[in-house]
Parts: sequence; C-alpha cells; structure tokens
Amino acid sequence: MRRKLAAGNWKMNGTSAELERLATLAQNHGAAKSEVLICPPATLLSRAADTVAGSAIAVGGQDCHAEVSGAHTGDVSAQMLKDAGAEFVIIGHSERREDHGESDEDVRNKARAALDAGLVAVICVGESLGEREAANTLDIIGGQLAGSIPDGVTGHTLVIAYEPIWAIGTGKVPTTDQIGEVHDFIRARLERRFGAGVGRSVRILYGGSVKPGNATEIFAVSNVDGALVGGASLKPEDFGPIIDALDASAD
Ligand code: 13P
Repeated sequence: MRRKLAAGNWKMNGTSAELERLATLAQNHGAAKSEVLICPPATLLSRAADTVAGSAIAVGGQDCHAEVSGAHTGDVSAQMLKDAGAEFVIIGHSERREDHGESDEDVRNKARAALDAGLVAVICVGESLGEREAANTLDIIGGQLAGSIPDGVTGHTLVIAYEPIWAIGTGKVPTTDQIGEVHDFIRARLERRFGAGVGRSVRILYGGSVKPGNATEIFAVSNVDGALVGGASLKPEDFGPIIDALDASAD
C-alpha cells in the first residue's frame, strides 16, 4: 500500500512570520493519516524543521545542485538541505525547467545527488498547453520520465509529481479523465522500467490548482496518491482541508 502524501510547495513565498502558519498546521494536522510535507524557501528550512519537530510533518527543499559542494554561488546542495532538516527535495519543477533552463539531464543529475544525500526526490513532469492541444501529452511525459529519473530508485526514494504547466496557478484543472490517463501512463512506465514491485510502490502526486473544493474529486482518481500544492499550501485553512480530503480518500 502506498501511503498518501500531501505536499506543499511554498515557492518563493514566506519569511519568518509565516512560520506561525506552519506551527498551526503542525498543531492541527501533525498526526494526519497521510504523510504531510512542506517545502518552504531554503532560508526558512532549518527553522521550519524546528517548528514541525515532534509532529509527523516533514520539510523539504525546492531544488538542489547536482554537486555536493564547490564554486556555485547562490546554489544549495542536497547535503545542505539534509543538514538543515530536509527529508525530501522537489526536483525539476516546471518553473525551474523554464526559469533556469533545466534539462531532463540536469534534473536526473540533481535527483541522483538528492538520493546520494539520503533525500526523497520529488521529480516533477508536466506538459504545456500547446503540447496538450497538439495531443503530445503522453509523449512529453514519457520523455521527461525517461530522461529525468536516475537508475536505482525505489518507492522509498522517489515520488513523481504530475503538474500540467497550464494548470499551475491558473485555477484551471484537467478533467478527472485527463488526470487518470496521465497517472495510469506514469504508473505503467514506472513498472516497465523498474519492475512491478518498485513501479507500484512509487507515489504519483497531482499538482496544479488543487484547492479544498476540488481535492476530493482529484483524490478519487486512480493512481493519484496525493497532491503537490502551491498557493493553497500557504494557508493552513486551505491546506488543512486538502489533507483531510486525502485522509478520507484512504478510507
Ligand atoms: P498551484 O497549486 O498554486 O497551482 O501550484 C502548483 C505547483 O506548482 C506546486 O508545485
């Protein structure tokens, strides 16, 4: 059985004042049935880890460098994230693929570094609106999976997040059929490459405009093992009901 995962990506949002929201979340959802993860900006990681200490909430990074250390001004390594209290790291988010020109190979190298540091890699894939309209979604996702996932992963070290770029921050959400088609496809690709045991154990999250109002419907879709939530993860009053909906879907 795959344990459900509710992951929040704060992106470039949050200063010290927002740690209070994390404390509220830990108080209200620190013993959720689902695994709960918050990925704050790197500047808050260590204090965020302290804030959730004693609860079942984990913290993670939003990116890491492919190397352990060195002359890479402004970058953060997977070891540094781990040292700051991270258990997970998001890799290859579409905003990084776009803003920083990250290729599948870059993503794979970063994911390798994350695994070497003992972090769980949350690798993101997703198509643009143009790619969907041209009926290329599965080809694009298949290519990203093949290029971005390193060898040797397991259900304990890898999570996949399917985030259609056109659904991120837009309020537009694919139909449940569209989500199911992609999640089933990802599952089949994982099983083909890593074998049925590993392929079935990797969690596949949906991300893109997940809100309290649509979470239950999304979590009922086959092979949706949770969500990677942006905007709605910033407020406990929004993220809390999403965690509750995920807990309920596991019943
Ligand atoms: P939104 O939930 O704000 O659409 O963001 C999704 C996302 O990009 C999470 O990584």
